[in-house]
Amino acid sequence: MAKAIQEKIIKTLAQGDFVSGQQLGDKLGVSRAAISNHIKALTEMGLDIFRVTGKGYKLAQPLSLLAKEKIFAQLSQLNHDDIIVEVHSLIDSTNSYLLRKIPNQISKGQTCVAEYQHAGRGRRGRQWLSPFGSHIYLSMYWSLEQGMSQAMGLSLVIGLAISDAIEHYLPNQVELKWPNDIYIAGKKIAGILVELEGQAQGLSHCVIGVGINVQMPDSTGEQIDQPWTDLSSHVQQAIDRNEFVAHIIANMYKRLTQHQQEGFVAMLGEWHSKDLFLNKAVKIITGDKETLGTYRGVNEQGAMLLENDNKIISVYGGEVSLRGVQ
Ligand code: ATP
Ligand code: BTN
Repeated sequence: MAKAIQEKIIKTLAQGDFVSGQQLGDKLGVSRAAISNHIKALTEMGLDIFRVTGKGYKLAQPLSLLAKEKIFAQLSQLNHDDIIVEVHSLIDSTNSYLLRKIPNQISKGQTCVAEYQHAGRGRRGRQWLSPFGSHIYLSMYWSLEQGMSQAMGLSLVIGLAISDAIEHYLPNQVELKWPNDIYIAGKKIAGILVELEGQAQGLSHCVIGVGINVQMPDSTGEQIDQPWTDLSSHVQQAIDRNEFVAHIIANMYKRLTQHQQEGFVAMLGEWHSKDLFLNKAVKIITGDKETLGTYRGVNEQGAMLLENDNKIISVYGGEVSLRGVQ
């Protein structure tokens, strides 16, 4: 109920005009006091709404909302209008939403995007901050016919797909940090979260989530504990998020299909050309253990290669973090 009312308030305010509490209340069949509480909840989601006595509520900037028909118009130009796309306003997490649809209510490539996530997550249960209407929060379902071993390297494959989509605006500027992070100018702009369900052998299911910072509100940026960036800090023109979403979907579908047919090995050279730490001194952190070495890229399965004492060891994803060393 609250969600439906809040979604209607957002749609009414999106054009950027003043709307009084009375008008909103009459339109939605609730009291002015209730409207005031909903507005408070919306500002906590990152919407910049202010109130002027005698005029009502107004958004600081008009909002260009995600719209299914606009995403489809772009997808059909890219020959991908057969992919199912759901657009949500408020959601817990786009990954959780698709995971709940497994196994019967979902098809390969099916995608969910949202304006706001109240439980967006990163790796190892870390929070992914998801202010309303500011960024991209997108998840795609993919099935793995030969089991979970096929999932190895998937976050690297998606790193290339997101790089393809970002490079539409910013050619040759994306760097990839093994296993799941995307950087521009040395700062994190996007993260990938791959979640799996099913058997080691036989059919298994995969939900791939990507969060890409487009225009970070100050109040959110202050809460992030490592250097971050957003697309609008590097691109002159306004970013059309609907067009961007369509490019992300088309590129993810294309890379996942390529991975299914040829494996990660076909993309290894490209990955190394964007690799943030290639041949640099790094440390890997596993729990409270740190190992120093020289980072030598990734192997054909997507494991990272660490040179230490003249030996090269392969390190697989999971609970490992990679950091540069000055
Ligand atoms: P690693 O996976 O190697 O440990 P990491 O520190 O980037 O790297 P992740 O779990 O991949 O950890 O990503 C979460 C981190 O990403 C957050 O702790 C934060 O520092 C950073 N970040 C950048 N943009 C956002 C965002 N919009 N919301 C939340 N975190 C963000
Ligand atoms: C990371 O860097 O740790 C991964 C961040 C992944 C965030 C995205 S946003 C869309 C999808 N839904 C989630 O809850 N998480 C992913």
